[in-house]
Formats: sequence, structure tokens, C-alpha cells
Amino acid sequence: MEIKTVGVIGCGLMGSGIAQMSAVAGYEVVIREINDEYLAGGLGNITKLLERAVSKGKMEADERDTILARISGTTDLAELADCDLIIEAVTENVELKQETWKALDALCPPTTIFASNTSSIPMHLQAMVTNRQDQFVGLHFFNPVPVMKLVEVIRAETTSDATYQAAMAFAETCGKVPVTCVDTVGFIVNRLLTPYLLDAVRALEAGIATAEDIDTGMKLGCGHPMGPLQLLDFVGLDTLLAIADIMYEDFKLPQYQAPEMLRRLVAEGKFGRKSGAGIYTY
Ligand code: 3HC
Repeated sequence: MEIKTVGVIGCGLMGSGIAQMSAVAGYEVVIREINDEYLAGGLGNITKLLERAVSKGKMEADERDTILARISGTTDLAELADCDLIIEAVTENVELKQETWKALDALCPPTTIFASNTSSIPMHLQAMVTNRQDQFVGLHFFNPVPVMKLVEVIRAETTSDATYQAAMAFAETCGKVPVTCVDTVGFIVNRLLTPYLLDAVRALEAGIATAEDIDTGMKLGCGHPMGPLQLLDFVGLDTLLAIADIMYEDFKLPQYQAPEMLRRLVAEGKFGRKSGAGIYTY
């Protein structure tokens, strides 16, 4: 299972990061968005980040050009038909993911590996709509993808050894450290991170301290690079809410129940950094 070309579905925060990381690692990348505006936004972010590396003296200008030349953008799913590995990074919505995989299953040869970057939706719910359940695996990256070292490799009951090994090898060639998890809601990191972020919102909602002091508490008290509310704005309030709802539905445990404040902020369009406001204003 030699991987040369990587297809990425979705050019948002995660998709553009996965595309950038793959191109830096030497893979040819085809990235698909639903319209030209979103595509231009995501590709623009990749260019900006590589530009920053050049201006900091961490990358040569011709290396940046070579990396960018490996990435092609499209709004046509059919252009991913020749990819060896396709990673989806669309919204956390099971119907949308199933629809995407069904369409790709009809377009791609049986050898193509399908990988989901879902934060919380089990693999079997996605693999079941395809005719390649043995070639379906989870590759869950962390934001910002080019920087964070971890990848969770999710092995569904139907994932073949060869597909699992190919996913592990792909993560390693991208400079990541893979950890393996069974096919469960939220995997390892979000199982632990989600209650923590929700508790930070509950603390703010209860008025125990200001957002700044809650963040400073966890940064300086526990040595975290970001406080939980900063991290929430970084991950996206809409994303956390979708993850929490999926996890609560599955586990029925109060620590996964989204607080009213989170629901209200999302309803107001306050998604965090990406929308200009969340817990903080940008
Ligand atoms: N994309 C790409 N690269 C970025 C970036 C971004 N959005 N933001 C920062 N970087 C790079 C910078 O270019 C810099 O690179 P360099 O060292 O080569 O110059 C490096 O990261 C450090 O950046 P800064 O000096 O600007 O800032 P910090 O030292 O504060 O680091 C951070 C920024 C890496 C984002 C750090 O604050 C951090 O680790 N925060 C926690 C992130 C985290 O926990 N992510 C996981 C979220 S959960 C998740 O993704 C799962 C999902 O399912 C919800």
C-alpha cells in the first residue's frame, strides 16, 4: 500500500493543516472544498503559514514554492479519484460524512484507503456505507496540525492489518507520533479533554472567576500552553458543542453535557477565533 498522493476533504482549520503537513512531508495533495471562497481561504492560510516560516528564516523560499506546488485545490470530488489515501475533515455530522464516503467509494479504485479525521464519530458508522470496510481507518490530528505531534490512529473492528500499518506509517512519515485507540466515541484525547473544556465554561458561567483568571490559573498552575477558554476559542465553540453532544448522547454522563452558555454562544455565531469572537473577542 504505497501512498504517494493524499486527498483531503475540507479546507477548514484541520483540512488545510493536514494538506500542509502532507505536502511538507513530500506527498502530492489534492484538497477539496465545497466552493471557491472556502477553498481560497484555506489555501491562503497555508500560504501565509509557509510565508511566516520563510520570514522567520526557518524555510527557504524555493522550498516553500516546492511545497505549495504539491498542493492542488478543487471543488470537484471526482478529482480525488486517483489518490492513494483520502482523509476527510468535514463538519462533525455523521450524515454529511456518510454522504461524502458513499460518493468517494463510487469514484475511487478499491485500493484507495479512506481515513476520517473525525474528533468523535466512530469509524464503523462511516465505514458501513462503503464497500471497503477493511480499508477504513481513523487518523485524528490535533490543531494546529503542522505543529502538534500527536495522531490518534483508530482501528475499527473491520480495519485490516495492512490498512492499519499504512496509516501508522503515513503518520510517522509526516513526523507525527501515532497512538492507537479502539473505535469508540471521542477516542483517547477528546474523552479526557471535552469534560475539562466544558468544566471551564461551567466555571465561567457560575461566575467563579474571570475568563482571563481561569486561563491564567491553568496556564501557570498546571503548565498548559493555553488556558482552557483560550483553547476552546482555538478549537472552535461549534466544534466542541458538536463533540460534546455526540459524547453525551453515547455516554449519558453529566461531564459531557454542554452547559447552556456554550449553546447560547454558538447560537449567537460566536465560534471562537475563526469567527472573530467566542469567549474572547479578536
Ligand atoms: N498553524 C500552524 N502553525 C502554527 C499555528 C497554526 N495555527 N500557530 C502557531 N504555529 C506555529 C508557529 O509558526 C510557531 O512555529 P515555529 O516555532 O516554527 O516558529 C510555533 O507554532 C509556535 O507558535 P507561537 O510561537 O506563535 O505560539 P506558541 O508558542 O504560543 O504556540 C500553540 C502556539 C502551538 C498553538 C500553543 O499555544 C499550543 O500548543 N496550544 C495548545 C494547542 C492544543 O492543545 N491543541 C489541541 C486542541 S484539541 C484538538 O485539536 C482535537 C480536536 O478534535 C478538538
